[in-house]
Amino acid sequence: MAKAFFITGTDTEVGKTYPTCALLHRARQAGLTAAGLKAVAAGVDASGKNEDVEALRAASSPELTLPESIRNPYLFSPAIAPHIAAREACVKIEFAVIEAAVQQALQQADVVLLEGAGGFRIPLGTDGDSADLAQKLGLPVMLVVGMRLGCLNHALLTAEAILARRLSLAGWIANNIRPDMPFHADNLATLKTLIPAPLLGVIPHALPGGVAAAARGLDVFEE
Ligand SMILES: Nc1ncnc2c1ncn2[C@@H]1O[C@H](COP(=O)(O)OP(=O)(O)OP(=O)(O)O)[C@@H](O)[C@H]1O
Ligand SMILES: [Mg+2]
Repeated sequence: MAKAFFITGTDTEVGKTYPTCALLHRARQAGLTAAGLKAVAAGVDASGKNEDVEALRAASSPELTLPESIRNPYLFSPAIAPHIAAREACVKIEFAVIEAAVQQALQQADVVLLEGAGGFRIPLGTDGDSADLAQKLGLPVMLVVGMRLGCLNHALLTAEAILARRLSLAGWIANNIRPDMPFHADNLATLKTLIPAPLLGVIPHALPGGVAAAARGLDVFEE
């Protein structure tokens, strides 16, 4: 049965995209077709491409024929807060458009992972913020915790916000964004005790083999 998840994180740049790519590989390793979508992207390179959208495309099943409007419904050039980028471009971010993109992706893929922008409460304009979007879509949420000092508070606040919205927290991923976090094991154990959802896996820092190798350590989409 086709299934979609909303991927959020404890902040921007904590590695939502990197673990989402690992999750896409994990699904594919389990024999499923998988599509990674970026709801709202802000920031492009010299050729007009967004790094997240390209990474998610590269990690998705190559046989999928999803148009750009589904892979990334909203793209803005400046790397600034999405609702400000949208205002500057005179564009309204419509949740119904993002919902339609997820539904269309689900017609082709067994697993659809929708990466949000920034953290869970990032404003997205007049339709609401990222939490409102997750609620409108009604998708189970996966939370990426960027393992660094400060992550305990950010992770617990985010988990609380997800559950306060009566969304299902399908699980969380510990992403080692630092090469060497002091007391990593203790922090991980604390989060395991306090986050009321399963730990889906730990993504090592800069693992040789990249996201495909990191995927093998994830306890999800079992064969
Ligand atoms: N486990 C990891 N090992 C090494 N580098 C990582 C890891 N996770 C993330 N990174 C790097 O950290 C940076 C931020 O990660 P990423 O782009 O996935 O964050 P993000 O939360 O998706 O950011 P955004 O809010 O912009 O979408 C990237 O350069 C990424 O390659
Ligand atoms: Mg990202």
